[in-house]
Amino acid sequence: MKSDMYSKHAEKYDAAVQNNIYNAHLERPSLQAMLGDLTGCHILDLGCGTGVYAEYLFDQGAKKVTCVDYSQDMIDLVTKKLGAEFGHRMTAYAQDITIGLPSESSNSLDVIICPLVLHYIKDLTPLFAEVNRVLKLGGYMVFSTHHPFADFECSLSGNYFEQERVTETWDTVGEPVEVTFYRRSLTDIMAAITASGLAVTQLTEGKADEKAKTISAETYEHLSKNPNFLFVKCQKFA
Ligand SMILES: C[S@@+](CC[C@H](N)C(=O)[O-])C[C@H]1O[C@@H](n2cnc3c(N)ncnc32)[C@H](O)[C@@H]1O
Repeated sequence: MKSDMYSKHAEKYDAAVQNNIYNAHLERPSLQAMLGDLTGCHILDLGCGTGVYAEYLFDQGAKKVTCVDYSQDMIDLVTKKLGAEFGHRMTAYAQDITIGLPSESSNSLDVIICPLVLHYIKDLTPLFAEVNRVLKLGGYMVFSTHHPFADFECSLSGNYFEQERVTETWDTVGEPVEVTFYRRSLTDIMAAITASGLAVTQLTEGKADEKAKTISAETYEHLSKNPNFLFVKCQKFA
């Protein structure tokens, strides 16, 4: 689901997520805690956004990072920010991942990350099938997405088990921007993973770090008691 947030406002989005609570002090530390040793790994960053994760992956010793995002503005930004330092180890291209991963070879990747992207995708089943195809045996994917219980608060149908398209206005970049995403049940997320043949090896609901408290004690308190994101690790065993 395209949004101006990730195209027209790409630079402002980049500035906003560097140190905010939800991305920098809840989502990133929670997802990064699920990654193993990345030294020498070839990693696919699905829905890479502004490259804040790619930079982290290089810092952790990744041999190669492939960044994919359907926003050309995001790909331009990643290339501008990281191209000079990591260009020889990085590939970045614009593509809608709902059409699959046609540029990626089967059994070629050690790790795939997909932070905060899946709620923009209507049908997860073909995507997980592609993830399974391109991962090496023993390779794994870690993703984060909106927590189904948190999103149920904005349900219009009142039916938790029904997938819904939700449009909200977010102030992430200092001005109101409309964002549309899909709300779905935990059952639907798990069904798409298991249909692909991948096995879930870890599931967490994240934890805001202590720095969040210094930014907003109120938000930290809220996040300590309410789920906001879901984090899943799934692995290719066969
Ligand atoms: C919330 S941002 C997250 C960016 C980055 N993963 C991070 O955590 O900083 C979501 C990103 O997913 C991308 N995206 C959404 N739907 C996509 C699709 N179908 N194919 C490729 N990228 C997509 C958007 O363009 C945007 O950059």
